[in-house]
Amino acid sequence: MTISVTPLSESFGVEIGNVDLAASLDEATFSEIKGVLIERQVAVISEVPADVEVLVGFGRRFGTFRPHILTQYRHPEADEIAVISNDPESGFGRTTKRPAGSFWHADLTYEEKPCDVSFLYSVQVPEEGGDTRFADMAGAYDALPSTLKDRIEGLTAIHRYGGRNPGGSIVKLSDEQRAAHPEVEHPVVKAIPETGRKSLYVSPGWTVRIVGYSEEDSDDLLEELYRHALRRRFQYRHKWRDRQIVFFDNRSTMHSATPDYPADAKRTLYRMFVAFDDDA
Ligand code: SIN
Repeated sequence: MTISVTPLSESFGVEIGNVDLAASLDEATFSEIKGVLIERQVAVISEVPADVEVLVGFGRRFGTFRPHILTQYRHPEADEIAVISNDPESGFGRTTKRPAGSFWHADLTYEEKPCDVSFLYSVQVPEEGGDTRFADMAGAYDALPSTLKDRIEGLTAIHRYGGRNPGGSIVKLSDEQRAAHPEVEHPVVKAIPETGRKSLYVSPGWTVRIVGYSEEDSDDLLEELYRHALRRRFQYRHKWRDRQIVFFDNRSTMHSATPDYPADAKRTLYRMFVAFDDDA
């Protein structure tokens, strides 16, 4: 099978066509898909059946699943899938003030071992709005002035679920979930082993502070990095259709759901988080 690859923006994002995830993917096709993901950071495949075995089977090809902290939103037929929904009838309806994920973040960076690749699958999406925006953090790093690159090289930052500004989307953790998730430290600049590129690895969602900096200096530096990385030229905005899978390199992107749809428009997505086996 030869896949087709159509760029979604100048620097990152692709739509992959001519692929049937319900059929078993041969190794060559899978490697091509993984290569495209690593090169272009965000990939979209359409017309994927809402079959948890197909979705989990595809995720498993990439490596080892990482569980989501919010264990109460696990799919009843597949522990590997975390459900995001505003639909009370789904049994998973969120009751936070703002929709789940509507703030800039990379997934699971509040974990010691976050995921390398994340998957979003659209079960049901609003006709208008409810898009997901992605930011190219490797492109943003490349475009930093060299003085700023030098300044952040070797720095580390503290990440925590809920970060410093929950912003109305965050589900309160149980005592058990909180106890299992102490603050963790990650480099501010992450090297992507497969490409040799470097990427910014901080987010307004989960990053609390730069290690060794005063609160004020840390806030100033993080703000400067976010302002730069969230320029339009580093963004791709995905307008969903039902039954699409969007999978992305979680090491070199951030994402944010847009909370711009009517309260009665249903939006349900499945999420999976996978670490490449070299990293597991
Ligand atoms: C997420 O943050 O993983 C969810 C993004 C979305 O709902 O668009």
